[in-house]
Amino acid sequence: MPRTTRMLRHMTGAERILEVLLTRRSVSPCRLQPPAPNPDELDGILQAGLRAPDHGGLHPWRVIEFRPQNREALARCFEQEKLRRDPLATPADLKKAREHATRPPLLLGFVVSPRERSKIPAREQWLSAGAALGNMLSAAHQLGYGAIVLSGERCFDETLARQVGVLPGEYLAGFISVGSIKETPPAARELLSQSVWSCWQGSDALPPGQPILPSERMPGS
Ligand SMILES: Cc1cc2nc3c(=O)[nH]c(=O)nc-3n(C[C@H](O)[C@H](O)[C@H](O)COP(=O)(O)O)c2cc1C
Repeated sequence: MPRTTRMLRHMTGAERILEVLLTRRSVSPCRLQPPAPNPDELDGILQAGLRAPDHGGLHPWRVIEFRPQNREALARCFEQEKLRRDPLATPADLKKAREHATRPPLLLGFVVSPRERSKIPAREQWLSAGAALGNMLSAAHQLGYGAIVLSGERCFDETLARQVGVLPGEYLAGFISVGSIKETPPAARELLSQSVWSCWQGSDALPPGQPILPSERMPGS
């Protein structure tokens, strides 16, 4: 039984709140179907983004919603971008590019907008934006929807960025797809807390890579 499932079985009361975070996983657009979140739910997702830790309260990010009536135009932009990158793209390649625009029930462009003249370092602004993105994906999951963020080469294309309204100095970090789950994705890979954990041993600490002694193991392992 996966460790996360084991942990959830033993969770009670307040610990259950973690369940949303522990069970979130990305759901690819081909596994999504309508209905999309309604406007109130979308507002909740954005509010969750705005609750992310944010040094200076800059919210250095924004989203661009691509509504159904504009998806065909977006699909043409994706198709053109694919042809700029690969003039020999096949009809199948172009169809795939178009589907990235037409398939998701809800499609949001996630734009990082670092404030250049702020005293908050750029790296902290990027972290805030990433935290907001994570909150939004978790909020969508909590509402019962599937969601994923995908960038791909198209997000690095200046022409496409301008076409969708990304301003100079901003970055199109990815496209967030959200919808009802048509097909459950494959089981998530089990991740161990120890892969991201260490415990400082004082300034005479051993160099990185030194094995952690049993007495220094993280709690819960
Ligand atoms: C900004 C950003 C862009 C991403 N772009 C892609 C992408 O283009 N293609 C892809 O396969 N995964 C991409 N990912 C990763 C997926 O969104 C997803 O996190 C990954 O498949 C792991 O799945 P999980 O979220 O269920 O752990 C991106 C993630 C982020 C944060």
